[in-house]
Amino acid sequence: MDKPLPSQIARRLSLRQLQVFEAIARHGSFTRAAEELFLTQPTVSMQVKKLEEAVGLALFEQVGKRMYLTDVGQALRQSARGILETLARFEMEAADLKGLKTGHLRLAVVTTAKYFAPRVLGQFCRRYPGIDVSLKVTNRERLLQRMAQNEDDLYIIGHPPASAELEFEPYLPNPLVVLAPGDHPLAGQRRIAPERIAREPFIMREPGSGTRLAVEQYFARHGLAPRIRMELGSNEAIKQAVLGHLGLSILSRHTLGSLPEGGDLAVLDVVGFPLSWQWYVGYPRGKQLSVIARTFLEYLGEEGREIAGSTVAD
Ligand code: PGA
Repeated sequence: MDKPLPSQIARRLSLRQLQVFEAIARHGSFTRAAEELFLTQPTVSMQVKKLEEAVGLALFEQVGKRMYLTDVGQALRQSARGILETLARFEMEAADLKGLKTGHLRLAVVTTAKYFAPRVLGQFCRRYPGIDVSLKVTNRERLLQRMAQNEDDLYIIGHPPASAELEFEPYLPNPLVVLAPGDHPLAGQRRIAPERIAREPFIMREPGSGTRLAVEQYFARHGLAPRIRMELGSNEAIKQAVLGHLGLSILSRHTLGSLPEGGDLAVLDVVGFPLSWQWYVGYPRGKQLSVIARTFLEYLGEEGREIAGSTVAD
């Protein structure tokens, strides 16, 4: 027979208290937690008080106007997330056994993947109307932080870091192209040398962007440095800046949509281009994927790949 799991505290605290506490810790606010859980603020305060009595230590401390988690509060937050996540997974599995696909999918993607991820998700939601999804769009650096903190179910990123902690599968090609305004003297020229591109003013994505990483690696490989005239944190802003003759740029072809060239933008024929980057889908190694996350992974590999592929020009 299995031994009982000894937990003194299990007799004194409730799952509801943990849920309230986790919401406060996530929002950094009692009011926002109360709103999210449809509770009144006195109820929320009461639940925290009872939880603190069960733990025997304060979970929050107030410094000035801000509220912080104490050390034991931090530790409890970790445990509470783990417990609530296990329960949510169980709920989805039980629903699956009843023949229902219901539950929640949390997907986080890098900014450039926003050109195909919503379309892929849209079809998935039509197929499984009982599943609700949240999509977080952020840059590479922030996405890797979210991943380290286990904030989502699945992640889409270009060129993930080699780490034993992360599990990634290639998903889709992500070609990177050199963009210029349509009336640029290099537009229409054949086999332009990388050195020629390095002489033009260049518009670069912000530090922390995966696209920027690819561009830096490309120039470094050729022993060149781009003449950065401007840094911008958005692909759309960069396309506008290129159209405004502020410089050339290198972006994912996904940013151009399904047109071979994005309107008045020209894709330059530079030696070595398009750079063959790749989209990957992954999760922290050892993470127990929910039945919904596993369903989405399967869908991504089949229909989802076709839909994403159709959003980009050949
Ligand atoms: P970015 O990411 O949107 O942060 O540039 C693209 C990538 O990871 O390849």
